[in-house]
Amino acid sequence: MKRGAFDPAAVTAFLVARHGAALGDAAVEIRPLAGGLCSEVALVTAQLRGGARPRRVALVAKLVHGAREAAVYRRLSTSVARRFSPELLGVQRLGRRRWMLYLEQVVPAHRWPWTDSANTAQVLDRLARFHGEAARGAALPAWDYAAENLAAAQSALSLAERLPRGEIPALARAMPALRRVVAALPAMRRQLLAFQPLGTTVIHGDVHPGNVMIRRRGGVGEPVLLDWARARVGSPLEDVSSWLQALGYWEPEARRRHDTLLAGYLAARGLAPALTRPLRDGYWFAAASNALAGALGYHLSIVSIARGSRAGQPGAAPDARAAAARNAADWLRVIRRADACWR
Ligand SMILES: Nc1ncnc2c1ncn2[C@@H]1O[C@H](COP(=O)(O)OP(=O)(O)O)[C@@H](O)[C@H]1O
Ligand SMILES: [Mg+2]
Repeated sequence: MKRGAFDPAAVTAFLVARHGAALGDAAVEIRPLAGGLCSEVALVTAQLRGGARPRRVALVAKLVHGAREAAVYRRLSTSVARRFSPELLGVQRLGRRRWMLYLEQVVPAHRWPWTDSANTAQVLDRLARFHGEAARGAALPAWDYAAENLAAAQSALSLAERLPRGEIPALARAMPALRRVVAALPAMRRQLLAFQPLGTTVIHGDVHPGNVMIRRRGGVGEPVLLDWARARVGSPLEDVSSWLQALGYWEPEARRRHDTLLAGYLAARGLAPALTRPLRDGYWFAAASNALAGALGYHLSIVSIARGSRAGQPGAAPDARAAAARNAADWLRVIRRADACWR
């Protein structure tokens, strides 16, 4: 996170508006939170006075570019997702496209709860409730996701074409599939969105372990979905495959129980838990669309920057390069699965 991204005066002004005299001249502490790639996030704490004893307030401040995410939170407040997302406490406009969101702090009960696949299944259950809800409340701001997805896919492909084949051994084998899947992406997405009975609905759009926590409430663990910046209208299978594929990369248990978890999602939607051919096709088209929306291009770009560093230019460290190559190979496996379904 960039130093000084958070203006203490603006943060204090928000706390004064919220807590009034109780804030007094209390010191406001702003501590960056690691984890985000796209935005800047910090934990804000202060001691309030008044009452029998001092009370600590803690909230999360997220600096975002544009008003979209705030609009999404407003939409969530009228949906079932308000029960499993942080509450939006307030919004501040800081500049032409700079907004600060103030969010309820979610305290995770575990650092890595996903070795227990019951927690993984609970996330799918919450997604099923959210996806299954009839659209109500405010509409989401428009987003031409299909166009953005295709542009990102084409740039990932041109990056892959330029990388020497030896850089990622899986790349040489996957290139024909990658070319076919990028060419077919618009048609694959049309088939995905038309797949019944799931069709389209409002989706989270970025479900991975960095955006999900399990918190403890009333003695039981419950999932919370963070980071609704990519919420949009899409296929529920985009969320389901995003969650299962991202988690499967890190967690062998999620890989082993993949089909059971997927069937569990269908059951939570009130559908027969059968992994039919059209369901599997839709699932892999959704996974490929997710891969091409950013992850594959991101990891390929790290590998290509690291090549520059070997030639004496600044670039990524060898560890980062090896991790990116492994990640890219994993996403290429998804591309090959989608290609096999399409042919
Ligand atoms: N409401 C919250 N409570 C606790 N931690 C949070 C909260 N919001 C974000 N975080 C932490 O900050 C990280 C980045 O936030 P996120 O909203 O995912 O930003 P980005 O859009 O940059 O990915 C998360 O992975 C999480 O660790
Ligand atoms: Mg995030």
